[in-house]
Amino acid sequence: ALRDSFVPKAEKQKQRSWNYLQPQASYKVAILGASGGIGQPLALLVKMSPLVSALHLYDIANVKGVAADLSHCNTPSQVLDFTGASELGNALKGVDVVVIPAGVPRKPGMTRDDLFNINAGIVKSLIEAVADNCPDAFIHIISNPVNSTVPIAAEVLKQKGVYDPKKLFGVTTLDVVRANTFVAQKKNLKLIDVDVPVVGGHAGITILPLLSKTKPSLSFTDEEVQELTVRIQNAGTEVVEAKAGAGSATLSMAYAAARFVESSLRALDGDGDVYECTYIQSELTELPFFASRVKLGRKGVEAVISSDLQGLTEYEEKALEALKPELKASIEKGVGFSRKQT
Ligand code: NAI
Repeated sequence: ALRDSFVPKAEKQKQRSWNYLQPQASYKVAILGASGGIGQPLALLVKMSPLVSALHLYDIANVKGVAADLSHCNTPSQVLDFTGASELGNALKGVDVVVIPAGVPRKPGMTRDDLFNINAGIVKSLIEAVADNCPDAFIHIISNPVNSTVPIAAEVLKQKGVYDPKKLFGVTTLDVVRANTFVAQKKNLKLIDVDVPVVGGHAGITILPLLSKTKPSLSFTDEEVQELTVRIQNAGTEVVEAKAGAGSATLSMAYAAARFVESSLRALDGDGDVYECTYIQSELTELPFFASRVKLGRKGVEAVISSDLQGLTEYEEKALEALKPELKASIEKGVGFSRKQT
């Protein structure tokens, strides 16, 4: 779908006939943290979507220039800029999908949890504004540690009385994108054909690729499973170290986030065949939040694909049990933070 979107639908239709006067599907998307390393390329990719009519860019600084620049691309959406807390409410009014990549990224030697003290507060204040201005929107949380920031967001939304667990998503698409890439490389496959579900959470060993559930069905040696699993779990750190202090993944993250936005918009638009992995409130395991494959629909999560967790290999079973204490602690840390603040 993203590839199609490089040629704006409106342009294609203009070339064909006068049909372009018919209304197009049109959704409003807001990006909070839009002038950052992820925010800018993400804004560009979302600007190319034929499903978007308005793109609201919000940040605490530098967003005017980003918006002026992007607004010159002749794709359908109108780009509007919003700077600072006083404009946040207007950035969110009438929005269908809110994407949140606001916050600080890792530097070498840091874990995602080291970002908690700064990013927890940022996510909390942004979600309060989301609750007040667009409580029905799909909310995509990118800011790390996702394992904790999503539970924080849930608590804030509950306190505001507008929590819909089917519409709050931790973005784990990059883990799937990485798994697909690394598996295709290892097995010499065409990338487009490979799909690996990744479950659990979004940090270290909580990232669990289910290689046994790869489509097309592939067989892996024990060594391959070990090597691929560890590489997928540490892929973020691979980028942090290569950038050597200049931040973490931004371009691949923007690509992954744009895919998740596009999937959400297709689901909102009535496409009945949209599946993504995402970190959500979940009953799949005993943990209150868990990433898994879900079917997306007009109202958010329409179904959780529980079959992915059935018939796991012994390696996957063990890894699943091993990740639970860490994921549980991260969830509790997020919930504890929100409750302490009130
Ligand atoms: P960055 O530092 O380049 O950009 C962050 C942006 O957020 C800046 O423009 C900053 O002005 C803005 N910001 C800070 N406080 C804000 C507030 N209160 N309201 C609105 N905007 C605010 O960082 P980058 O590289 O874009 O990363 C952003 C976040 O995404 C980090 O927390 C990082 O850990 C996370 N991340 C998540 C991934 C995932 O797979 N979920 C992958 C990669 C990064």
